[in-house]
Amino acid sequence: MPHELTIKTAPFPAKSTGALVIYAADGGKPEGLGAEIWTATGLDWDKVSAAAGFKGKQGQVLDLIAPRGLDAARLLVLGSGKPADAGTTPMTAWTDRGGSLAGKLLGARIKKAAIVLDGADVTPERAAAVAAGLRLRHYRFDKYKSQKPKDGENGDLEKLSVTLHVADKSAVDKAIADRMATVAGTLIARDLVNEPANVLGTLEFAAETEKLADLGVAVEALDEKQMRKLGMNSLLAVSQGSARPPRLVVMQWNGGKKGGAPLAFVGKGVVFDTGGVSIKPAAGMEDMKGDMGGAAAVTGLMHVLATRKARVNAVGVIGLVENMVSGTATRPGDIVKAMSGTTIEINNTDAEGRLVLADALWYTQDRFKPQFMVDLATLTGAIGVALGQDHAGLFSNNDELAGKLLAAGLASGEKLWRLPMGPAYDKMIESRFADIKNSAGRHAGSITAAHFLLRFVNDVPWAHLDIAGAGMGANSSEVNTSWAPGFGVALLDRLVRDNYEEA
Ligand code: BES
Ligand code: MN
Ligand code: ZN
Repeated sequence: MPHELTIKTAPFPAKSTGALVIYAADGGKPEGLGAEIWTATGLDWDKVSAAAGFKGKQGQVLDLIAPRGLDAARLLVLGSGKPADAGTTPMTAWTDRGGSLAGKLLGARIKKAAIVLDGADVTPERAAAVAAGLRLRHYRFDKYKSQKPKDGENGDLEKLSVTLHVADKSAVDKAIADRMATVAGTLIARDLVNEPANVLGTLEFAAETEKLADLGVAVEALDEKQMRKLGMNSLLAVSQGSARPPRLVVMQWNGGKKGGAPLAFVGKGVVFDTGGVSIKPAAGMEDMKGDMGGAAAVTGLMHVLATRKARVNAVGVIGLVENMVSGTATRPGDIVKAMSGTTIEINNTDAEGRLVLADALWYTQDRFKPQFMVDLATLTGAIGVALGQDHAGLFSNNDELAGKLLAAGLASGEKLWRLPMGPAYDKMIESRFADIKNSAGRHAGSITAAHFLLRFVNDVPWAHLDIAGAGMGANSSEVNTSWAPGFGVALLDRLVRDNYEEA
């Protein structure tokens, strides 16, 4: 079932025997070349837009079939929202425009389209954002569907070709190539998260990361024996009930100054989370195939950095385990000693993500002495209760890093909301029998989870992104209709681009 999208660029004038696409702002009408195209139809804008109820709101479409005066089979006028203000329109608005256009083209079974992107506010980056939105919205995960769907948004469409007509083709081509590196990373993360756990186990995930070697990423995978030797008994306690062996994958991209301290990204990679002996209820447990969303984002990010040859040193570390129930599984009440030396009472085997990250974080700071560590994890159901899907939770021991992450969230559209930390919360993870316990109960569940991680960062600047809400089961948006949004890749790529690349 081929589902292909070709995106091309071309100069003006824009022509298409398929759909010709122009824009109109909220309360406005087509301008520039759009106005010329509209005039060729001989139609009265005020009359037609009023009759169609078209106001130019973002995502709204006015669809004219076979307009007289044009070669195009249809003319689409896309609402672009509030009048474009070159200074203030956020980049995400342009991505959304591309996304809503793809949605319309797919829904209307249009196979060929040409968009007019003229006007002073269309910078190459913004044209590239439209292309990114097209690609992100076009994505679907349907490899296990043996029948072509007959109805629904994506229908039986096989191939879609969109040409962006722009003033400066070569500048836009360059911007698109750059932006598509990021998009490709997001799509990799989506694929990994959407894939079921019988297909994507720990070894299969590790094998996916090996592909990064082709891009110049150094990839290593520590096995159980090596981890045992390092004292990673916290991570191994999670994996011991599974027939699938654990892996700690280390991915290094060195595009920066030789020997310069790297940026570190650490991901929770629980390929399936049954909860272990503290087993989860049956309803919805299938979603736990996505409990490796943090590791998927880190993998996608490393792919982006290497593809676009980012001038930065970065290391990605992901803990790949499966949390199962068996005769060898960890029991509630078991006590283990983590690599850091901290003893942990595992009072709830379903609080397993923090056990994996404890050793992954300690190992990362110990070996790489990074500038900072950012971890991503589908860590707590509680973060979904607090924030839903539109923001991931941010926890940090460093205001500067937190500030940069919040800004990258707004710029990328993958938004974060910072939650508090403090001694009163830290006290909640004290254990009667060991140094700490892994579950402090329902109150402030996301915050106490963050405090557990903080015990393993050794005062390195650190931020934790709890993506349990934002990273799976996504609501459909202009740029995503898939269960897995690929959350985190665009965000962290933005963080790197805006703050850490050498000139
Ligand atoms: N993977 C889950 C968190 C999760 C829940 C992710 C829903 C995505 C959707 C995590 O391992 C977990 O089970 N957390 C427990 C922690 C509790 C036992 C302290 C939770 O949130 O209930
Ligand atoms: Mn769990
Ligand atoms: Zn989990």
